[in-house]
Amino acid sequence: MPPAVSRETKPTTPADPVRPEDVDLSVRLGPLELANPVMTASGTAGLGLEMEPFYDLSVAGAIVVKTITKKPRKGNPMPRLSETPSGLLNSIGLPNKGIDAFVAKTLPRLAGKARCLVVNIAGGCSDEFAELAERLDGLPGIDALELNISCPNVEDGNLPFARDPEIVRGLVKSVVDVTDLPIITKLSPNVTDVASIAQAAKDAGAHAVSLINTVLGMSVDWRTGKPGLGTVIGGLSGPAVKPIALRMCLEVKRAVDIPIVGIGGIVSVDDALEFLTVGATAVQIGTAHYKTPDVVARVVGELRERLASAGRRSVQEQIASLKAP
Ligand SMILES: Cc1cc2nc3c(=O)[nH]c(=O)nc-3n(C[C@H](O)[C@H](O)[C@H](O)COP(=O)(O)O)c2cc1C
Repeated sequence: MPPAVSRETKPTTPADPVRPEDVDLSVRLGPLELANPVMTASGTAGLGLEMEPFYDLSVAGAIVVKTITKKPRKGNPMPRLSETPSGLLNSIGLPNKGIDAFVAKTLPRLAGKARCLVVNIAGGCSDEFAELAERLDGLPGIDALELNISCPNVEDGNLPFARDPEIVRGLVKSVVDVTDLPIITKLSPNVTDVASIAQAAKDAGAHAVSLINTVLGMSVDWRTGKPGLGTVIGGLSGPAVKPIALRMCLEVKRAVDIPIVGIGGIVSVDDALEFLTVGATAVQIGTAHYKTPDVVARVVGELRERLASAGRRSVQEQIASLKAP
């Protein structure tokens, strides 16, 4: 005779395993809809077109172009890159051909190739940011703007905009006033209280914040006394900065109700998932491009399987799933 099974002990059917193809990768950054949360980080994937030999640009959640300025810029003196044991120092100096060339030559070739195209802009003063935003507003193919506020503010002793909440508030407002494009404000880690800067961006109307830009650093050859970079001090990126970036994303998540794009040291799908866990809605991948040019396509490709293996039916279920007091 089979053993009697009481109502309480009756075995339950285990939850159906999640199939990778059923995992919903879509996310929203305010009004901006992304098919998946994996974006390129500005300055590390050129103007986007450079990545075409490595993968179909439409695979990325978004392509973020390198910083565009009003006037053409030559960039900083060489050397501009210096490798360190677990990160890359750079002082590139935002070389680009300026907004006119971008609009006339690059944009027509780029438009329609990415599922979502984000143009990263920088100016020497708030008015210049606004001028750039106004110029790009309504142009076909552009889905959002990212403000690189780590650049020097010529009206404030060349100190970066990113360090002062009041300055950030004014800058973001001047941009929001002249464009309907979603605005992502890219934050610098070289501040004491990143949440106050994120709050200022939000108050002024930013739809999302992305963080982090590079961490100030330097390298030196003690024998020759020569610094690794032409400008001596530059910005550190790559795996070395990931713990700093995770910490800063968490600080913003805990203090400010705004979508976060996590950036810093992501080289794998697991790194990307760590940022989602602390509260980022999407991620950007930068330095990893130099070793693995198709890293964005690889991470997108592995994301469904990784989430399915953890029983998640959507990216959303992973976001802000940190178990911490
Ligand atoms: C060579 C290089 C160039 C970069 N250029 C830009 C840029 O033009 N604009 C910008 O906002 N960030 C720029 N960044 C910062 C990256 O977008 C990113 O915020 C930072 O490198 C951290 O991410 P990662 O560790 O994945 O590289 C650059 C980074 C590197 C390494």
